[in-house]
Amino acid sequence: RRARLGFALIATATLAACQGPQSTFDPAGTEAARVLDLFWVMLAGATAIWLVVMGISVYATKAHPEAHSEKSGLRLILWGGVAFPVVVLTALLVFGLRMMPDFRAPADGPRIAVSGERFWWRVHYDTPDQPGVAKALSGEGVPSANEVWLPVGQRSEILLGSPDVIHSFWVPNIAGKTDTIPGRINRLVVEPTREGVYNGICAEFCGTAHAQMGFRVRVVSREAYAEKVAAEASPAAVLDHPGRAAFERNGCGACHQVRGTDSNGLVGPDLTHLAARQTLGAGILPVTPENIARFVAFTEHEKPGVQMPDFGMLPETELRDMAAWLGALR
Ligand code: CUA
Repeated sequence: RRARLGFALIATATLAACQGPQSTFDPAGTEAARVLDLFWVMLAGATAIWLVVMGISVYATKAHPEAHSEKSGLRLILWGGVAFPVVVLTALLVFGLRMMPDFRAPADGPRIAVSGERFWWRVHYDTPDQPGVAKALSGEGVPSANEVWLPVGQRSEILLGSPDVIHSFWVPNIAGKTDTIPGRINRLVVEPTREGVYNGICAEFCGTAHAQMGFRVRVVSREAYAEKVAAEASPAAVLDHPGRAAFERNGCGACHQVRGTDSNGLVGPDLTHLAARQTLGAGILPVTPENIARFVAFTEHEKPGVQMPDFGMLPETELRDMAAWLGALR
């Protein structure tokens, strides 16, 4: 009985681990549901083959005088070794091919350009009055970073590119992974079916901070999505602040953009609405003034391999002001 209890506990723990914001076993999108179906069917097929092989192995270890003829051996090879695998593998192939999404299928939702860059995600939303202009790396559309909002129940088109090395855009709850490849634009159409916040990760090794190249996907109603894009399109709200002067004095604007100010760098993430995001540093820390100060002062420690230099030499008041200002940019 104790063994049965232990098994039940392990099974429960294993299944509980399958729920959550970063799991292929908890689909919140049509594509992810399809991937999960394929997984179960392949698991069933693999289990059937395993059972047959094990059955034959057990049979073979027993003495069967009648099975020693050459004819029955040949029959076993033909049925068990050729016919059975051909039937099972063909069935799985046909099933898998039928499940392949139609890559040319039109989208009825927004088009969003996402660029994988060492080690963060550049995002461009289309504006309603500029349909179809956002293109990876072109700087058109509404800039944002490290968070992708999507409307529920619509087929959104995500254009994926990269200026440096190959990354891979993967949100396990929403869809399978798609690489971002320098010099080309990959197209991923997703249809989220459930509102919520999901974790995305880079799924292709791209350098030191590969493991810290995360992002959030926030699936919301169509109305909330339209509001969000309008909010992202607007310039920064909190402009009169000593932190802004510190930000500008220290040259942060050479790499970062805060729309509505003179800071218009395009090297690093757009910070115009940093505080409206859930995370900082591409998914590694919650956005709070304390964490912003920590990230700016100990960049290389918080995210080894990041392109941004440490600003640990800044006077503490300056650091605090800057973090307070950035932390108020909603
Ligand atoms: Cu980007 Cu791994």
